[in-house]
Amino acid sequence: MSEDKPDLDAAYRLKTPEDSVRLYREWSQSYDAGFAAAQEYRLPNAVAEAFAAAAGRGPVLDVGAGTGLLAARLRALGVEPVDGIDISPEMLAVAAAKGIYRATHLADLTRGVALADRTYNGVVSSGTFTYGHVGPGAFDELLRLAAPGAQFALSIHTGVYRDAGFAAKLEALGAQITDLRLEEVAVYGAAADASHRDHRAVIALFRKA
Ligand SMILES: C[S@@+](CC[C@H](N)C(=O)[O-])C[C@H]1O[C@@H](n2cnc3c(N)ncnc32)[C@H](O)[C@@H]1O
Repeated sequence: MSEDKPDLDAAYRLKTPEDSVRLYREWSQSYDAGFAAAQEYRLPNAVAEAFAAAAGRGPVLDVGAGTGLLAARLRALGVEPVDGIDISPEMLAVAAAKGIYRATHLADLTRGVALADRTYNGVVSSGTFTYGHVGPGAFDELLRLAAPGAQFALSIHTGVYRDAGFAAKLEALGAQITDLRLEEVAVYGAAADASHRDHRAVIALFRKA
């Protein structure tokens, strides 16, 4: 991994949490301008807007918060407070400097999060459930952190939705969740590289029972 330059192709090739720490350490300073703006990365806004449209409310946990693009849109929509968790201290430092999070927490979602049960009325995520990042096993931990009735809005890349077990996991959660619906959206805009322009994600909207 470390020989890769930090870009989207390198991100999709990640295999382990340690790979993520290394890549995002290098990517943090150029992520907003060099990636998100250049590729017209639409997903954070789409997730924030879907969450607000579903009457989601704070406090909200932003999972794989990165540089805070999703929280910025949530705040603009009047949803707050927002806390962020991420495995990359450098990405979280960029997010924290924007002053949009109430708190940021360094955590590896594949190992559990040191926060109390039933803390959040909302759980959101953009771009973290994708190739080489975090799998559906993390959903159990997110449900633990959510209050009863909490609204979820989690993006899942369509390329991993079935193949990495997200569809099966949502099915297996059964009565632990209610009001499940999937909204399919474009990840990037027309300015994106040709090889990524058509990428799509589902936003899984559901409530904790
Ligand atoms: C593509 S970025 C998305 C960031 C932000 N949500 C956005 O949409 O711009 C994926 C984020 O997931 C984080 N991440 C990857 N693996 C993780 C893990 N095991 N636990 C927590 N965060 C992780 C990365 O550090 C990175 O900030």
